[in-house]
Amino acid sequence: MKRLLHIVASPRGDRSRSGAVAGRLLAGLPDSEVETLDLFAADLPPFDGAVIDARYALINGEGVPASAMADWRAVERYIAHFLTFDLWLISTPMWNFGVPYRLKHYVDLLTQPGLAFAVTADGQVQGKAKGTAIIFAAGAMDTRPDGPLVALDFQAAWLESWLRFIGVSDLHTLRIQPTYGTPEAVEAAMQRAFAEADALAARLR
Ligand SMILES: Cc1cc2nc3c(=O)[nH]c(=O)nc-3n(C[C@H](O)[C@H](O)[C@H](O)COP(=O)(O)O)c2cc1C
Repeated sequence: MKRLLHIVASPRGDRSRSGAVAGRLLAGLPDSEVETLDLFAADLPPFDGAVIDARYALINGEGVPASAMADWRAVERYIAHFLTFDLWLISTPMWNFGVPYRLKHYVDLLTQPGLAFAVTADGQVQGKAKGTAIIFAAGAMDTRPDGPLVALDFQAAWLESWLRFIGVSDLHTLRIQPTYGTPEAVEAAMQRAFAEADALAARLR
């Protein structure tokens, strides 16, 4: 049985469009074990000076400073938890061209050298996340790759780069765009995304 982690980066609960499309895909994978990580409810440790000190200490081959130990242990737990899954779903709105700050916070926590990725002696990055990732990217604007607003995409494109960096090679992006405009245009975007979710679920089953 596949273990899935659904990372929810919208605070809009049942009204979330990215969440609705992720829910549709999950409904098509009934034999999976799904855990939900609601980033706006999660007790994320701070990602501040103390944790950065710990990161640099480890890079320099030194121990974690006592002042950062508790927070660093929490960071380690979040990374270990993330790496136990076979499939990650990230449902996220675009906020100011990028992702909501809670998702950026989570990514900053996870992306630690030696834990989420390693660098070989010849400078190659080796990510430790082995599995499939699916991004559900909602946005008012249509920033899909073949459109005129593609240069404004610091949401899905950024998440794709990060996921590849930490090792994910099987990557799918479903775009729920535009979610602002005429009711017909928004409905068309939702139906297109639902159809893509159904097709992807059928491939993953
Ligand atoms: C604070 C905030 C900033 C936003 N910034 C953008 C943006 O830069 N580009 C865009 O296309 N949509 C933007 N939106 C619109 C959301 O991305 C859009 O409504 C999306 O469908 C919400 O997804 P959700 O329902 O899953 O939360 C913004 C919305 C909020 C609340």
